[in-house]
Amino acid sequence: MSDFEHVFSEPPPGAAVDWTIGQDWRAYSGIEHETWDILYARQMEILPGRASDAFLNGLKALDLNAGGIPDFAVINPKLQALTGWTVVCVPGLVPDAVFFDHLANRRFPSGQFIRKRDQLDYLQEPDIFHDVFGHVPMLTDPDFADYMQAYGVGGQRAAGLGVLDQLARLYWYTVEFGLMQSTQGLRIYGAGIVSSATESVFALEDASPNRIGFDLERVMRTLYRIDDFQQVYFVIPSIEALKAVTLQDFAPIYERLKGASDIAVETVLPGDRVLSRGTQAYAERGGRFAV
Ligand code: PHE
Ligand code: CO
Repeated sequence: MSDFEHVFSEPPPGAAVDWTIGQDWRAYSGIEHETWDILYARQMEILPGRASDAFLNGLKALDLNAGGIPDFAVINPKLQALTGWTVVCVPGLVPDAVFFDHLANRRFPSGQFIRKRDQLDYLQEPDIFHDVFGHVPMLTDPDFADYMQAYGVGGQRAAGLGVLDQLARLYWYTVEFGLMQSTQGLRIYGAGIVSSATESVFALEDASPNRIGFDLERVMRTLYRIDDFQQVYFVIPSIEALKAVTLQDFAPIYERLKGASDIAVETVLPGDRVLSRGTQAYAERGGRFAV
C-alpha cells in the first residue's frame, strides 16, 4: 500500500461517480484559513523575480489571497471566463483514468484538505495549497490551459498503450517541476516548486541540481524522485514551445522509447543542452531539505 492517507481505490462515501466532492468551504477552521495565509505570505516573499510571469499574472487574476482558503464558488467564475477551466474538489489522489478525464474536460481536481502546521515545508501528498496555489494560476494562461487539457487526452491514450510511466515523467518535469526561460533569466512555473518555499530557491539558485534544456524524449526516459528536491530540472523555452512539441503524435515516440533505457536523475548525457551542470552536493550529503 502507499504511504498516503488520502488515497482510495473507489469513490469514498459521499463522492460522486467522477470522485468529486463538495468543497464545503464553510467547514474550514480559522486555523486552516490562517495556514493558507501563512503559506501565501511566505511564497510572496520569494516568488517575485523567481516565478514566471504566467504564474504571477494568474495569481493576481484569481485574487487568491482574498483571505484564507479560496472558495471555489468564487474563483471558478473568474477561471472559467479566462480559459474555460474550473477547479473541482476530490477526497485525495484519484485513479489515473479519473484524473485524465477531469483534465480532458478542463477540470482540475484539487485536494480538499490543507496541511497541518508541522508540515508547512514539505508534504508528498497534494493538499489544497499545493493544488490551488501551485497549479491553478498557470491554468489562466491560454497555452498552458490547452497543454493541460491535451495532457488529459494523451493520458487516456497512453494508458491504453501501456506507456503511462513515460507520460507521467512529462507531467512531473513540466507541470510539477518545470523551469522556463524568460528574457530576465530562468523562472519557475512547476506547481511543486512554486508551492514550496525551500525548493523555489533551490531549483533556481542551488549549485547541486542539473538544469537541462527540455527535450521531449529525454524527459520521458528520465526517472524522478518524489521524496526530496529534484536532482534535475528541465527548462522549456516558453509555454508556446512546450505546447508545440507536445502537439505531435506521441505514438512513434512511445515505439522508440520501448527500446530505450531509463535515465537516472543525476545523469548528464552527451546530447544534453546543459544550462548548469550540478555538483549534486545536496543529494550526496543525504538531502532531506538541509540546504
Ligand atoms: N500529443 C500527445 C499524443 O499524441 C498528447 C499529449 C499532448 C500528451 C500534450 C501530453 C501533453 O499522445
Ligand atoms: Co501537483
